[in-house]
Amino acid sequence: MPDKGGFPHYMLKEIHEEPEALRATVEPRIAPSRDRIILPDVEISAAQFRALQRIKIVASGTSRHAGLAGKYMIEALAELPVDVDHSSEFAYRRPLLERNELVIAITQSGETADTLAALREVKARGALSVAICNVVQSTIAREADAALYTYAGPEISIASTKAFVAQLAVLYLLALYLAQVCDKVKNDFVRHSIAALLALPEKISAVLKREADVAGIADRFHTASDFLFLGRGVHYPVVLDGALKLKEVSYIHAEGYPTGEVKHGPQALIDETLPVVIVATRDPNDADSMLRYEKTLANLKDIRKRSGQVIAIANTGDDEIRRATEHAIFVPNAPELLLPMIEIVPLQLLAYYIAVRRGLDVDRPRNLSKAVLQE
Ligand code: F6R
Repeated sequence: MPDKGGFPHYMLKEIHEEPEALRATVEPRIAPSRDRIILPDVEISAAQFRALQRIKIVASGTSRHAGLAGKYMIEALAELPVDVDHSSEFAYRRPLLERNELVIAITQSGETADTLAALREVKARGALSVAICNVVQSTIAREADAALYTYAGPEISIASTKAFVAQLAVLYLLALYLAQVCDKVKNDFVRHSIAALLALPEKISAVLKREADVAGIADRFHTASDFLFLGRGVHYPVVLDGALKLKEVSYIHAEGYPTGEVKHGPQALIDETLPVVIVATRDPNDADSMLRYEKTLANLKDIRKRSGQVIAIANTGDDEIRRATEHAIFVPNAPELLLPMIEIVPLQLLAYYIAVRRGLDVDRPRNLSKAVLQE
């Protein structure tokens, strides 16, 4: 087993490896001229991609959360409809598959039994399949028509962290590639997006330098018995994963919810004992993102009025958020669809530091294994 590189746990080491996981995953897919995405490892032609009418994503756990973010990315950039399913649901019904539909199986290990069963069902029905996978030559990578690898390096800690960030990067690359081959985006947009993607590792390193802020928030809230996580749009899958990470490593009950839905029930839970984590990041160059942000800000203020304890993830320089809550973690700006790769980092660190404060075995949570090999 590789050593912990001076870190007390693999989980923390792997979170710190995220900038490198991103570089290794993104750079081989960018043309030297930095104006085009290339997918040299995918043996599916541009013509086959152009013929696609629909995409289905199957995955479990954290990989499914990446898939949900991928839906926002592919629909926004390539304008193709995307459905996301739990592998364990998809594999055991008679799912509808259309002609010219691509199925993407996302899996860190490449061995998850439910995802393998879903892929075999798809293949038996003759649909085209791609695996997004972190383990070269794993069963799912071998059985899919093509494999698009995440190069995050081995993930030892049971909680998946760096593989999730790398999956988000691959999904963004695929979304941009599809947009490019289907003529949905201008060259300038592709060039600008590539530059923003290549700038992400530095931004994640900047978040990691603020680790002590997150540890301070963990000190304050580690005794809570429940957490609510809220996010809107592409930030919703991020909070689902923030909640999953907290559940797994700290054994605290945590629920992820779309921010706008909080009024339709979960609001009844809000009191001074419930920490509510809200992702309230935004892209000032994107009017839709700003509209969603304004709505999120209104939700945040409303929760504060009801005595909720709010921990906000916001962008550096956001004084509105600074005024609205005393517990905020600030992260660098980026285009909206790239923000998930930055804002998940403080949520992973929050789960980690809360588990450490509770004296738990962070890398080996009870009842869990790294790859779920039985259906
Ligand atoms: C969460 C976690 C699990 C896995 C899930 C799928 O931290 O690790 O939820 O994401 O079991 O595993 P893979 O991606 O290997 O198919």
